Amino acid sequence: MTVKVALIGASGRMGREIDALISEEKQWRVSQKVGHGVGEIESVDQLNPKEVDIVIDFSTASLFSSVLAWCTKHKKPLVSGTTGLSEKDLESLESASSSLPVLWSANMSLGIAWLSEIIKQLAPLAASFDFQIEEVHHNKKIDSPSGTAKHLQQVLEKYVDAEAPQPLAIRGGGVFGIHKVWAMSDEEVITVEHQALNRTVFAKGAVKAAKWLYGKPNGRYLISSLLS
Ligand SMILES: NC(=O)c1ccc[n+]([C@@H]2O[C@H](COP(=O)([O-])OP(=O)(O)OC[C@H]3O[C@@H](n4cnc5c(N)ncnc54)[C@H](OP(=O)(O)O)[C@@H]3O)[C@@H](O)[C@H]2O)c1
Repeated sequence: MTVKVALIGASGRMGREIDALISEEKQWRVSQKVGHGVGEIESVDQLNPKEVDIVIDFSTASLFSSVLAWCTKHKKPLVSGTTGLSEKDLESLESASSSLPVLWSANMSLGIAWLSEIIKQLAPLAASFDFQIEEVHHNKKIDSPSGTAKHLQQVLEKYVDAEAPQPLAIRGGGVFGIHKVWAMSDEEVITVEHQALNRTVFAKGAVKAAKWLYGKPNGRYLISSLLS
């Protein structure tokens, strides 16, 4: 049996990488593409549900609510890496997860999933350390700070049980993504840094996530679920 993927944002930078990776998979194929490229479907509403087993979305935040609504209506699992989602989008994602399997992550790299787990280990230092998240991205990135930095900040603040200063965001050149966590006391400094060396790391993570999610019960899953 071939698993049919609807790819949203197919002609974008991420969409093209994911398309290429899926074409190498024996039992998976991209059956429909939504985007503005040649031969692509213009609107999510025009997707044929019979031709879709799972949806992968790397498009734009303004499209997210219609992607989620389509998946909910047709009970199709969704993997999305689209960033810049609103609070309302995230709430909708949470409620949709009672009727379909969803995995949304602002960063599909397993290295960042690990970093997110490591941050939890800072808890015992909370009393005597200051913390700071820093991120660097290419000059075309729209959202700032990055969705990943916001996620790391949330995890950090939860585990050190204190507010940290807002993440520092630097934009320039073609940097794919650097995220760094600082822990600083009067006597010592700890830094943990993750660098994405190319875009493929996110595309590979997204395809891995889709293969992992397909067939899972309804629910909201995290990229860190793939670590265990
Ligand atoms: N989670 C992760 O690991 C990760 C990694 C990298 C990027 N991202 C996120 O993934 C998203 C896509 O990134 P990207 O670098 O691939 O961006 P991109 O190159 O701009 O691609 C976005 C694609 O979506 C299409 N699109 C936008 N609005 C649309 C609409 N209303 N209807 C149909 N198609 C529409 C665009 O088509 P047009 O250009 O023709 O408008 C484009 O092909 C962004 O939110 C980015 O931040 C996430």
